[in-house]
Amino acid sequence: MFITIEGSDGSGKSTQFELLAEYLRKEGYDLVTTREPGGTNIGEQVRECLHDVRNERMTAEAEVLLYSASRAQLVEEIIGPALAANRIVLSDRYYDSTLAYQGYGRQLDLDALVNITKFATGGLKPDLTLLLEVDIIIGLSRRESGGVEINRMDLQATAFYKRVKRGYQTLVAADPDRWVVIDANRSTDMVQDDVRRLVEERLHEEGYGN
Ligand code: TYD
Repeated sequence: MFITIEGSDGSGKSTQFELLAEYLRKEGYDLVTTREPGGTNIGEQVRECLHDVRNERMTAEAEVLLYSASRAQLVEEIIGPALAANRIVLSDRYYDSTLAYQGYGRQLDLDALVNITKFATGGLKPDLTLLLEVDIIIGLSRRESGGVEINRMDLQATAFYKRVKRGYQTLVAADPDRWVVIDANRSTDMVQDDVRRLVEERLHEEGYGN
């Protein structure tokens, strides 16, 4: 079973991901965790390139292809073999991030992105995707360490995050059976309770676990 977690910056996604992984392992599930971009040797090198501040001239198209290169390697090396062995794969982001950030956020051609994504993944879709949805201002203020005030750049960024958020909502509406939306404006514990319950429900339905 292939589970992915999505959410905009400041949604607390990575914390929720770690807590969920720790819980599922403790419960005895055979779990493989991974993250994007990265998750393989080649993918981590691509991640460095994507995050390197010296690469400010990177075009949006180059960015998409790098995310996709990392993803192709991850599917081939890690996700595919784990699923073939009937293990549970939990990924911190997957192709929905490309559709939401590069497609809706940066407004690149969506059909092209869907095709690139299919090429990179061989069409491998998650069985379940959790979307941690957060108010944009709350998300931004969480990101600022120590609650520093929101500045002018952040306000410019809000337009981008609004598009990303609406993009995720559009993706959910197009495939509601795959997605579960979780209100991430609440405390870490409350969000984690929902995350665990929803994932365990689905795992039991699919015949995993006790
Ligand atoms: P990361 O440091 O992993 O942070 P996060 O905890 O938010 O996942 O950075 C990932 C960033 O890359 C995040 O801002 C979303 C972005 N991203 C894309 O724009 N497109 C993609 O396809 C992926 C996988 C990530």
